Amino acid sequence: MLHRIEEINSKAIEELDGIEQFKKLEDWRVTYLGRKGALTQILRGLSSLPLEERREVGAAANELKVLLEERFSQKQEALKEAELARRIEQEKLDVTLPGRPTPLGRLHPTTQIMRQMCDIFISMGFEIIEGPEVEWDYYNFEALNIPKYHPARDMWATLWIDYEAPSGERPMLLRTHTSPMQIRLMEQRQPPLRVLMPGKVYRYEATDATHESMFYQLEGLAVDRDITFAELKGTLYEFARRLFGAERKVRFRCDYFPFVEPGVEMAIDCFSCQGAGCRVCSGKGWLEILGAGMVHPDVFRHVNYDPEAYTGFAFGLGLERIPMLKYGIDDIRLFYGNDLRFLSQF
Ligand code: DAH
Repeated sequence: MLHRIEEINSKAIEELDGIEQFKKLEDWRVTYLGRKGALTQILRGLSSLPLEERREVGAAANELKVLLEERFSQKQEALKEAELARRIEQEKLDVTLPGRPTPLGRLHPTTQIMRQMCDIFISMGFEIIEGPEVEWDYYNFEALNIPKYHPARDMWATLWIDYEAPSGERPMLLRTHTSPMQIRLMEQRQPPLRVLMPGKVYRYEATDATHESMFYQLEGLAVDRDITFAELKGTLYEFARRLFGAERKVRFRCDYFPFVEPGVEMAIDCFSCQGAGCRVCSGKGWLEILGAGMVHPDVFRHVNYDPEAYTGFAFGLGLERIPMLKYGIDDIRLFYGNDLRFLSQF
């Protein structure tokens, strides 16, 4: 029997040494120390032994039991520590690592330039209104002194809406410019007016590097008693200098728009070559940036303003052209192509 105890001892210790998992350790405990374990069996059988042997075997078995229990809890501690070390290694976090950069959103270049421009006019006392992109022929053309079949309609390649009025006409379109907002404004309000009208416009164009079927315009209108052409010039000159630098010169030349008389086109001396002639201005030294003029008396008549009592000036400009010139962007399609490589440069 003593021999058997010795056997259990060496086998148990050997097995215990090889154990690396809690599950195995528990199996081991059941095998050697459990209620049906090898050692418990011996202790239970003690009573059937002769007294002399019982004492000897009993003492040895109890000694072994104490030993194995002790080794068991040592092993349990060791496994716990190993497990903790493993977790610390696995879950370690280097708080000194630089964080992952969060990509920042930004305003679209069109929005940025639009805000810059509006701020300049706002500081001169203008307010802002907006209106519909789907428009009536009446506002887009008729009331702007462009009657049906007038050749000036060819200045705006128009996208017509497929809507038939009871009269059989198709009077709806996508506005080709922001000028119809002049009419909507004057129908609703009386002078004095100093108003900006920004927004999207649409043209029936084959798109290429300089043409888009949708782009932005900024329209302006000032109406009051005794507004003169000098005020048009002064306002737009100030705008050009604030946007492109105080050293800018401006040039006004006659141009034709049916809703103004006289009509002009305004150019600034090229900010890239100071007027000497370069790629930006195609060698001309000047950059045309907007159309303007004194409001035509017939336009006033359409909104029941008395042309004898009031005068006014109006202007309109294509928005994308400005950053294109400023940053050397050679394709207008980049603006609304949603390519982040382009957009994130602004
Ligand atoms: N609406 C014109 C266009 O789209 C631009 C324009 C010219 C607007 C002269 C004006 C103006 O208000 O006075 O081509």
